[in-house]
Amino acid sequence: MSINRRQFTKLCAQSLGLSLLAACQFVPTTLHPISQPTAPSNHNPLWIPPTISGTTIDLALAKATSSLIDGATTATYSYNAQPFWGPTIILNQHDTVTINVTNQLAEATTTHWHGIHLPAEMDGGPHQPIAAGATWSPTFTVSNDAATYWYHPHLHSKTMEQLSYGAGGLIIINDAHEASLPLPRTYGSDDIPLVLTSRRFLDNNAFDTTAIYGDVQLSNGTSNATITLPAQFVRIRLLNAEVERAYNLGFHDDRTFYVIASDGGLLNTPVPVTRLPLAVGERYEILVDLQHDLVGSSLEFLAYNGGQPFGFPGGENARDGEFGSLLNNTTFPVLRISVMPSTPNAILSLPTTLAKNVLWQAHDATQQRTIAITDHGPGTPFTFDNHGYDMQTINQTITRDSVEQWTIVNGRTFDHAFHIHDVQFAIVSRTSGPVPAYEQGWKDTLAIAIDESVSFVAKFSDYANSHHPYMYHCHMANHEDGGLMGQFLVVE
Ligand code: C2O
Ligand code: CU
Repeated sequence: MSINRRQFTKLCAQSLGLSLLAACQFVPTTLHPISQPTAPSNHNPLWIPPTISGTTIDLALAKATSSLIDGATTATYSYNAQPFWGPTIILNQHDTVTINVTNQLAEATTTHWHGIHLPAEMDGGPHQPIAAGATWSPTFTVSNDAATYWYHPHLHSKTMEQLSYGAGGLIIINDAHEASLPLPRTYGSDDIPLVLTSRRFLDNNAFDTTAIYGDVQLSNGTSNATITLPAQFVRIRLLNAEVERAYNLGFHDDRTFYVIASDGGLLNTPVPVTRLPLAVGERYEILVDLQHDLVGSSLEFLAYNGGQPFGFPGGENARDGEFGSLLNNTTFPVLRISVMPSTPNAILSLPTTLAKNVLWQAHDATQQRTIAITDHGPGTPFTFDNHGYDMQTINQTITRDSVEQWTIVNGRTFDHAFHIHDVQFAIVSRTSGPVPAYEQGWKDTLAIAIDESVSFVAKFSDYANSHHPYMYHCHMANHEDGGLMGQFLVVE
């Protein structure tokens, strides 16, 4: 989404009218600067997290260290003694799994299974703390469709810090339908996880875990990442694991690539795009055709964040300060791909049909809710409906098996990334225009722009519990920790 200078000036004037002066301090001096991708000379091989699978999974969160940039090592958090982040958990649909999470930190944490449909007491939200030294063992039956999910800490007011230290990991769910399709699925070979984030480093290479935007982009914890991929269709599983920054992804040659899956499953057909916006918490799986790239040549996958309007997270023009970063409002590489000969059993054509999703439509909903993102001017926290998150307050109560339409209404201050636990939803409308084809699939997280309202429909099936709530919140960790979160019960 982009707006022209006149619209931008109008928006800014509206913001000023609301006395949101701070919002306008970051007005880009040039709305659409020509940002040349910088080509770092010192590339590092993209780290591929190891996988862990089965019906009993052991995770241990502890302090670790990683050589992320030149010089001193950086103190991190990771699961299972990885340098940063954690292993990729592979689960099969219909399996009943137990995950033993041991907290080897000296502070409490939680582990949330983002996007997974499961009982609230297994969800790993703020109400399931794992004390220092303790082990938490949720068990659940995997019912989600094949797609890319993730796990991360969710302790209220500590999410940003623990995530910033590196705690997180991917979850790949497999199912029989996806397995029957001619898609690349050799992990680390033609099926690549790509977790996007950035960090600000202090003098001794320590993370600044209070930084909203990092200065150094990291792909799977690798700076200046590069990978060699075969000259065939390759699949990339994208996750935005930032605190706040969004990525407007595309290739240096503007080639078309194909979105095959959204947050919670395959799309019905591959959706061709040249740019793909990825908000915090969102996942998309894409196919990239490398058959016409010469062996030995390389291409850049970039975040075209230069020239983004104010409101796009990371579009601020400031280089430092609370909302500044060296990457803000610039176009920067996230992965250099070098091309090698194709592998045996290469996928050489694009499947035409992927799934037969019947997505919820507005008329399926029997209950409507409207939730506004509110604030009270510069420096005040964002809230839902003027109420900051309170662990003791249930904000919404839903009857099990009901199909509901939720309309999220944004204000004029900033974009957000709305996420709801327990369900996968269908976006039924955006006041900014048509719902893009790549969003017409199962989602659990959505970007909402300044002044926009977005409606989605979901069914709250299977699990009811009158004591244990699920969360809905902005996935920008600073906003969530600051109180832009609410909780709902699903009851019989
Ligand atoms: Cu990814 Cu409530 O979180
Ligand atoms: Cu937000």
